[in-house]
Amino acid sequence: MDKKITVLKGDGIGPEIVDEAIKVLNRVGEKFGHTFHYTEVDIGGCSIDKHGVPITDAGMETCKNCDSVLLGAVGGPKWDNVAPEIRPEKALLAVRKELNLFANLRPTKLFLQLADASPLKPEIVGGGIDLLIVRELTGGVYFGNRYTKETNGELVATDEMTYSEHEIERIGRVAFETARKRGGKLASVDKANVLDSSRLWRKVMHKLAEEYKDVSYSDVLVDNTAMQLIKNPAQFDVLVTENMFGDILSDEASMLTGSIGMMPSASLSDTSLGMYEPIHGSAPDIAGMDIANPIGTILSAAMMLRYSFDMPKEADAVEAAVSKALDDGYRTADIMQDGMQKVKCSEMGSIICNNI
Ligand code: IPM
Ligand code: MG
Repeated sequence: MDKKITVLKGDGIGPEIVDEAIKVLNRVGEKFGHTFHYTEVDIGGCSIDKHGVPITDAGMETCKNCDSVLLGAVGGPKWDNVAPEIRPEKALLAVRKELNLFANLRPTKLFLQLADASPLKPEIVGGGIDLLIVRELTGGVYFGNRYTKETNGELVATDEMTYSEHEIERIGRVAFETARKRGGKLASVDKANVLDSSRLWRKVMHKLAEEYKDVSYSDVLVDNTAMQLIKNPAQFDVLVTENMFGDILSDEASMLTGSIGMMPSASLSDTSLGMYEPIHGSAPDIAGMDIANPIGTILSAAMMLRYSFDMPKEADAVEAAVSKALDDGYRTADIMQDGMQKVKCSEMGSIICNNI
């Protein structure tokens, strides 16, 4: 098959980790008889420097007219003080919205080879951690009205959190379908004891639960979820939640594994077009040093093969190649352990390619 991939390398370590994922995709192409065509588009700080905006209109068009998008990371201290309308993060939110990427899948898996890296005690993580956060990505407080105005002689700032039934229902369906294909358990996370948007969220989820009787469903309040993730993460299979709760909980969950550099993500729409990126940031402090961990990006490319290109065998091959690299004792600096062999970012990419 021939596939068009838009590549958004971004800032910081973005370019180096994306290069490794491309190496792996090319190896997959060679082995399984596919051709991947790449078009690079500037995004984030590098685009602000070159074009004065975090993504150009032409760049956005390229993202819309391809089979899928691969992203590194955006942002860095250099652009912390630019005007809010052109912040690097703005481009990311715009791509999510324009491509209608409403379903963000963030798997958190404890790699048994790295179990020691978890900050949790062995008796807590011993049963393994394998959960999936389904985060709503194009609604809620991220996209509500936002304004600051002077009232009674002081500034008052407002960010509105809005959800409509259809937005909740479509993310709910993704979550129930996904739970059905995994462990059959779904927890819906909200703050229905306080927020109207959460009460509507819960009502729509309950209606869906009637349709998906084979999925074991529960409601959990977001504060309690934050606690349960530390207390007993193994109780969770799939979690579904609104945009900002998902942002926060997915950072928390990824840390449970002790290796945020390993975690991929997929942002999906109702077509096969999706965007794939590691969940970590641009790590400007180690940019250009060839010591970043490319595995989160490589596993994101595997998700691209699985979800956008319907190539499950190819995705399995990439995941197995990553696991073998860990079994063989190769570690980047962030996951280095005694007795293992420390490798650079580009070396890890090559080792994974050779395993395919
Ligand atoms: C994420 C990030 C983004 C978000 C930022 C960079 C806007 O934290 O993808 O989780 O908040 O969604
Ligand atoms: Mg985040």
